[in-house]
Amino acid sequence: MEIRIEELKKQSFKLIEEAKDLKTLENLRVRYLGRKGELTAVLRDLKNLSLEDKRKIGPAAQKFRQELEDFFDSVASKLASAASSGKTSIDVTMPGRKIAVGHLHLLTMVEKEIRDIFKAMNFSVVDGPEVESEYYNFDALNIPQNHPARDMWDTFWLQDNQNVANGKWQMANGNDKLSAISHRLLLRTHTSPVQIRYMEMHKPPFQIIVPGKVFRFEATDASHETNFYQVEGLMVGKDVSLANLKFVIREFFKRLFDKKINIRLRPSYFPFVEPGLEVDVQCVKCGGKGLISQSGTADSAKRNLGCNICKNSGWLEIMGAGMVHPRVFEAAHYNPEEYQGFAFGLGLERIAMIKYGIPDIRLFYSGDLRFINQF
Ligand code: DAH
Repeated sequence: MEIRIEELKKQSFKLIEEAKDLKTLENLRVRYLGRKGELTAVLRDLKNLSLEDKRKIGPAAQKFRQELEDFFDSVASKLASAASSGKTSIDVTMPGRKIAVGHLHLLTMVEKEIRDIFKAMNFSVVDGPEVESEYYNFDALNIPQNHPARDMWDTFWLQDNQNVANGKWQMANGNDKLSAISHRLLLRTHTSPVQIRYMEMHKPPFQIIVPGKVFRFEATDASHETNFYQVEGLMVGKDVSLANLKFVIREFFKRLFDKKINIRLRPSYFPFVEPGLEVDVQCVKCGGKGLISQSGTADSAKRNLGCNICKNSGWLEIMGAGMVHPRVFEAAHYNPEEYQGFAFGLGLERIAMIKYGIPDIRLFYSGDLRFINQF
């Protein structure tokens, strides 16, 4: 009997150790510990032994049964955890799983592209404060208080309105000499105030762009957001002309859209430029035709559909521009008889929407990775 137990021990531990999966292990459990199992049979035979042998062999046999059960359990849990972590079948030739790394947001990429184009044309990149004074955002840009042009910019005003003078913070003290001009604070509604700030600190000639965040107190829809990005441009010198503006803008769009693209200047109004212009580019989708040819009907006849990007007009409004107004130069203490220049302002989202065919501005700020990861 003792020899049988010894043999069972050797054999069973070896086989359990070699078990590759839970099914094999379960079969072994039945083979040794099941109702008709080999060890169960041995234990049953104990009752036929003499009392002396029972005393000697009984406890050893029970101990073995306990050890065997424990061993089954520990191997079973090892196999189970290996199976769930996939370790049982490692295919070392399989390509590794890609680590998800972040990337720049589409708007950041487009802004960088715009910066690079202008830098290559010798423009400097400048920035200014997002919390701005009424003076820089409006008055100095020839938009006086109570002027109807202010309606063009719905404004977020700051509640705690301290005084700001020449870009430096000042405590409201009641006898501020500069209080004749308004230093009420707001969130800038456009990047144009940086024109004044830059001119106060620099002498022409120069050419700058100002990318930055702007804010409007407006209802949102597919083409309006309460905060968005603009890129302002300003070039000032003794003989900067509208022809220079045309060249710079045409060159910019050619590089941005990677092809020669027609532009059109329309008269428009902005208080800080004279003349003021609206710049249109030929529709990037329909190529200016206002129609898109489609072959897809059953008889594969060609149909012409209206272009939904330019609303059949063939042109896309893309930026405001103009020649800097003499009043703006005066506010910056430049002599308007000596200097002239052009300015422009464009919406970054609008550019990205046109370039990548994005239908809704709110997508940029949705935080939806299905959108963000496409770029
Ligand atoms: N600041 C204008 C806006 O937000 C855009 C603009 C128009 C900027 C004409 C300019 C300009 O510099 O010349 O609507």
